[in-house]
Amino acid sequence: MNFEKFQLERQQSTWENKVDYNLSESGIHPGTFKTLFKPEFIEEIANTELTYGFTEGSNELRESISSIYKGSDPDNIQAFNGSAEANMVAIMSLLKSGDEMIYMVPNYLQIYGFARGLGVNVKTFTLKESSNWQPDIDELKALVTDKTKMICICNPNNPTGSVLPKETVFAIGEIAKEVDAWILSDEVYRGAELNREECTSFWDISYSKTIVNCGLSKAYGLPGLRLGWSISNKDYIQECWATHDYTTIAIGRLSDLIGAHVLHPDNRMTTLNRTRDALTENLRLFQKWVNIFDQQISFIPPSAGAMAFVRYNWDINSTLLVEKVRKEASVMLVAGDWYGMDHYLRFGYGAKSSDLKAALERITPILKTL
Ligand SMILES: Cc1ncc(COP(=O)(O)O)c(C=O)c1O
Repeated sequence: MNFEKFQLERQQSTWENKVDYNLSESGIHPGTFKTLFKPEFIEEIANTELTYGFTEGSNELRESISSIYKGSDPDNIQAFNGSAEANMVAIMSLLKSGDEMIYMVPNYLQIYGFARGLGVNVKTFTLKESSNWQPDIDELKALVTDKTKMICICNPNNPTGSVLPKETVFAIGEIAKEVDAWILSDEVYRGAELNREECTSFWDISYSKTIVNCGLSKAYGLPGLRLGWSISNKDYIQECWATHDYTTIAIGRLSDLIGAHVLHPDNRMTTLNRTRDALTENLRLFQKWVNIFDQQISFIPPSAGAMAFVRYNWDINSTLLVEKVRKEASVMLVAGDWYGMDHYLRFGYGAKSSDLKAALERITPILKTL
């Protein structure tokens, strides 16, 4: 096994806590126990014994999660430490060296790098800016072979914030069915749609070889809980639970308790509406800022998530530009380079409005000199 460096995470791990303003985050700014929860629930947290809990996730947690997905029950769900672990366990459980996988790009690249490290043959299909960051279904059809074991999707997409329409979700499902391939859909940004309509989940295509991975880090703004999940057919859930015994055994006991509460049907929309309100306000602010550069930078407004994937016309490499901004303004951005797409920058606009404003003000004079 030989894992290439995961550029985006390596850079974030190195710098995100050292800069004054971190605009490399792709989720909404998190709250605290005190700002998010009522005193009675905080008391319940304080009185919870810190046992291992349930290694598959408590029944309460899995009930809450299954309430999001029509026709599911708790036995369709396995809890993980972040959607990152859910992704990793899916690859470890289902693929081996020499297998063929088809992967949407641009993308977060965790699954890409991890699968390649295991010797999986990863082929890519592309979201095109000229098509509003949508895929060409014929390109995908042409790539699929009878050796294809898995098609990997990120919907809503990181870094473009684009969302697949329902017809495309079902069309991809049909392509997978034809060759009996798994679909692995990373939906960690689902719920953070700016139009407030939750996008179609791959769960809705009712194809048994579908795994949907999601978590609390982005749309729910709770990355510190490290809570994610897989939803799939019950046999796969048993299998990935067994793989999980080898990785982290269980999720944190308090993450389980808080996840069950946040995702409960009585509470879930409160959290998501908070996210959508903040994203709407911040995107307005960000768009206004982009306009001052008079076409030197442009972007297709995201449909979901707290990321704007911005193309620029200046003659400077994106990694160098990100370093310059970090050194001169103490603001961290994400380079298009880290997605294999130079001349783009990813701005996380989910920060506190006052921080976003201050960070953009610091960057402005640097960009004006380019
Ligand atoms: C598409 C995607 N999947 C998974 C992750 C990992 O998130 P988590 O905190 O749920 O492990 C990220 C993080 O940025 C992401 O963008």
